[in-house]
This record gives sequence, C-alpha cells and structure tokens, in this order.
Amino acid sequence: MCGIMGYVGGDGASGIILNGLAKQEYRGYDSAGIALCLNGEIKSAKVVGRVSALARLVDDMPPECMEARSGIGHTRWATHGGVTVTNAHPHESADKMVTLVHNGIIENSKEIKADLTSKGIDFITETDTEAACQLLAHLYRGDALAAMTCLAKSLVGAFALVIMFKDRPGEIWCARKGSPLVVAYSGGASYCASDPTALLEFTHDLFFLDEGEMAELRPDGCRFFCFDGTRREKESIHLSWDSVMSDKGHYEHFMRKEIEEQPDVLRLTIDTHTILTSVSRERDLNLPVGMMKRVNRVQFVACGTSHYATLVARNIMESLDEEIDVSADVASEYRYRGVRGGDDTLAIFVSQSGETADTLAAARLARSKGTHCIAITNVRGSTIDRETEHTLLSMAGPEIGVAATKTFTGQISLLALLVMQLLKDRGTLSASDEARVIGGMRILPSHVHSILERESEIKSLAEKYSDSKGFFFIGRRECVPLAMEAALKLKEIAYLPSEAYAAGEMKHGPIAMLDEHLTVFAFVPDNDLREKTLSNVEECRARSAPIILLANEGDSSARDHANDVLYIPRTERELFPFTGVVALQLFAYHVARTLRRDIDMPRNLAKSVTVE
Ligand code: F6R
Repeated sequence: MCGIMGYVGGDGASGIILNGLAKQEYRGYDSAGIALCLNGEIKSAKVVGRVSALARLVDDMPPECMEARSGIGHTRWATHGGVTVTNAHPHESADKMVTLVHNGIIENSKEIKADLTSKGIDFITETDTEAACQLLAHLYRGDALAAMTCLAKSLVGAFALVIMFKDRPGEIWCARKGSPLVVAYSGGASYCASDPTALLEFTHDLFFLDEGEMAELRPDGCRFFCFDGTRREKESIHLSWDSVMSDKGHYEHFMRKEIEEQPDVLRLTIDTHTILTSVSRERDLNLPVGMMKRVNRVQFVACGTSHYATLVARNIMESLDEEIDVSADVASEYRYRGVRGGDDTLAIFVSQSGETADTLAAARLARSKGTHCIAITNVRGSTIDRETEHTLLSMAGPEIGVAATKTFTGQISLLALLVMQLLKDRGTLSASDEARVIGGMRILPSHVHSILERESEIKSLAEKYSDSKGFFFIGRRECVPLAMEAALKLKEIAYLPSEAYAAGEMKHGPIAMLDEHLTVFAFVPDNDLREKTLSNVEECRARSAPIILLANEGDSSARDHANDVLYIPRTERELFPFTGVVALQLFAYHVARTLRRDIDMPRNLAKSVTVE
C-alpha cells in the first residue's frame, strides 16, 4: 500500500525523499510524487509509474528545487480514482496553502467534498485524499495545531497524513489513525515514513505514531500531540535491524536473497526461542501463570501467507495434543463469524508486517471479548506489537520482496516453539515428542542448505513446466498448508492459475479440469499417508496430467508415479512444510523468472495491506 517519506533538515530534501520512496517501493504502488518547499513556495512533480521515472522528472525541475530543505513524497496504490498523474499524491489545496500525502481511506470524503463544493471550493481529482487537503486548508487560520486538531476530528476512516503548509517552510505535520507512520530525529533533521526500513540509514531509534497521534517535525526535533491537541511525551523504540539487511547485494531479486537467508532465520529463531520450551511456565511471554490450564480453546488468526503459517501451527498442535480444541481462521472472516472468546480462549494473531488491517481489527475484537491474546510479528514497534500485551518477534529481519518467504519460515519456526511451550504449560506435551520435534528443528538449517544447493535442478524443472496452463498443488495433512502456500507463491509472482487441494478432494470435483496441459505437483513425504496420496496421484495421472512429486530422499519408487521427482531431506513428520516450502519458493521463483515477471513487485500487490 502507499508509501510515504517526509524530510525537514539542513540537506537537500529531494534526494533523501526519492531514496526513502525507493526503499519503500516493495510496498506496492502505481504512481509516485514529490513536493518540495522552497522560498515560500511548494513545487511538485508526479508520475504514473516507478520512482525512477519520478527521479528523472525531479532532475528536470528548476535547479533551485535541489536547494529545498523540506519536502514530502508518496507512492500511491490506487483505491479511490484511477491511476493518473492528477490522482497521484501530493495533493495541493485550491488556495495552495496546504500540500499533503495520505495512506488510507477517508470514508466521509464525499460528504466533505459536497460541503466544500457548496462553499465554492473546486476539486480537481477523483481521490478521497483531496477532501482532507481542501478541508485542512479551509480550517487553517495560521495555527497549524488547531487546524490539525479540527481535521483529525472531522475525518472518518483510516489515515496516515503528512502535510506541509506553504507559510511554515521549516515544519512538517503528521497525523495517524489506522495507517502506519514512523517518525525519527537525527543530527539536525527530522524524518517520517510509512516503513521503518526507509529511516534506518539515519537512526535506529524510531517513534511509531500511535492511533490518534499527531507530530510536528522540525530540523531541531519532533513534538507529539493527541488528536485533542494536548502534548504527549513519547519514547523511541530501538530497532536493531541493519540497513544492509534491506540491500539486494549481488542478487538479481530481493526474493531470491530472502529465500537464501532462511537457514539463518531458522537457526536464529531456534537458538533464541528454544528457551520457550525449556521452562514449564508462561514466564517468557509474561502470560498469567496457569493460563494454559484454564484455556480450552486456541484460535490462530492471520491473513495470506501468515494464515498458512498458522495452519502449519494448528496441525503441529493437533498432532502433539489430540484433545485440544484448535482453529485457524483468516482474519477477515474471524471478525464476522461470531467466534467464541473469553478467559477460556487463547487467540494467536500472526502478521509479519504487524499492520494488516484485518488482523488488527480481529485482535481488537478478541481483546474486547476478554480473550487472552498473543501477537507474532516481524516488526518491532508495529501496531500489533504495540497493541497486544504479549508479543513474540520473529527473527526474519526486513523482508523486501512482496512475496513472503523468509518471514513464513520465521513464523512457522516460532509458532512451532510457542505451540510446544503452551502444551507444556498445559501439561500435555510428552517429553519424547518435545525431544523429537526440537531435535528435528535443530537440523532444519542444514536441510534447507542442501535444498538451496539443488537450485539448478529446481530451475530446470521450473523452466520445463513454465508453459503449463496451470498447476494443482496437492497433499494431505501437514502438506495441505504447504500446497496452499506453494499455489499462492505461483499466483503472486508468476500470475499462473494455481490451486491447492487436499489430495483426497481432487476426485470430488477439480479432477474434471485435468488434461495434459495442467500440471499436478503432489507432496508425498514418506509417512503413514504416502500410499493414500499416491493413489490420488494415480487418479490424476490417469487423466493425462503431467505429475511432479516432492518426495523424501531415498524414496526411489516415487519415480514410478511421476514425470519428475524433486527430492528433499527427511524430517520429522510435522516438519515437512519447513523444508518443502523452500523447494517450492525456488520453483515459483524460477517459473516467474522464466516468464520474465516483475518478481519483487508483482502487479496489483502491496506488501503491507493496511485497508480492510
Ligand atoms: C503473500 C503475502 C501475503 C501476506 C498477507 C498478510 O506472499 O505476503 O499474503 O502474508 O498480506 O500480511 P501480514 O503477514 O503482514 O499480516
């Protein structure tokens, strides 16, 4: 979703803003713009297309624009109004007093527009944002705080707003409700951005604006206010991420780099968090002592890939404790399904960004029911981290590729450890299961290494099948979430039709689609369900579908059932998705690369989905 960058300080603003926008490109966008404040005037440039095109336009601006010491920039992911230069941000009020950028949706924009139009103010864009811009100019009488306070009260919906007033050249104003915004001060300059990765080269001490908070940014520091205008003291949060972590290095794509980082993510998570299972109390999470003995219902809630991570966790929990009542919902459904809650329920919310609107809303609903809540996120200081009393941080580091890879691995490894701690607190985790699964997890990094070493084999397979009309990914039990994640990766980055099915379901309908142009990719780990899955594979083969199998090393007879077999190391049964996913990420990556897709920034997608 939209990316914002603001700067006020002693250096040229344009370069800093363009660089900050480029760092947030992965959020997903279709147009970009910048406004620079100079000698009491605000000059702007906007393009449909990439930040690189905006940079070329900035090069053509009058040379004095390079002298501007403050400015704001934006990458727009269109919601209201088409993808046009006019609709791109920044927007300027009719009287030119206010210029602003916005991430979110102003739900009462139509009413505001009707009211201001009746007062003679002309609107020129199709956006909801322009309503906020014109309204602020209408409210402004020389006192920025007073006007911002009135604006914040008048707007309905979600917004991160970053604003310049023409007559206040050394100031930038910000307001946040529902959409993320992070602020920083360092060495005579203040900054704001949608995403902390854009600010890490300046400082690691960041101020994450809370709901209903505003900020005034000046070269000598930042001041924070509530929406009612009262001052607020705010503590910065230290983010230990390295800015080099958000560099592509020698890799062609961030996604490829992030796939390769997975052994480290696994190692770090397991080394940091096995403490979770080494104590038999809720102490590490600071959960109420005895909580897990009282809880008789566990709910996992998330969206997209994070949801598939929770399905992996649900399966692990069920496999280790057959008695426990455990569910995994997508957040947008959890909210409207009338799920139960209260003191006997634990809900675990998973969001790598910590900003996904549906997951945040679901967590708020659960809290309102008195449900015990734990959040798992990859971003310290994100909204879900700040709003949830008990948070566990996954150890993936910044993920730039839009398609989640290493954050999924970070989530499933942390979830597996959390599940074991919770069951231990409940008294239902057997010592043998604990030793078996932890032991299995410890060798995962080297297994993933060996899969990465087979990249050329996976690449050849991807090239061979890249002209397939579509794919079915099938498997049973622990392989079903893996199939879902594999299908999603291929949809996202290769734009190929791909479906995931529990293998036993194929004959109940989808098998009708099969012919020699649709490839079936089946997962057949060497376990109790192997033969049943292979029967389902044979049913597909009989309908002429080309078959690829993902099987365990040593399973030579798998070749009798398939056109091609990809072998991966053996793991404990519950852990097959941990290794399988890496092979499937590489497969999707190379199919997309063969088809020359925009792998790091797939069309229509946003990294952080901040609207419901
Ligand atoms: C897929 C992907 C998305 C996200 C989903 C939830 O590759 O990245 O499906 O998993 O939008 O995002 P978070 O985890 O940030 O809540």
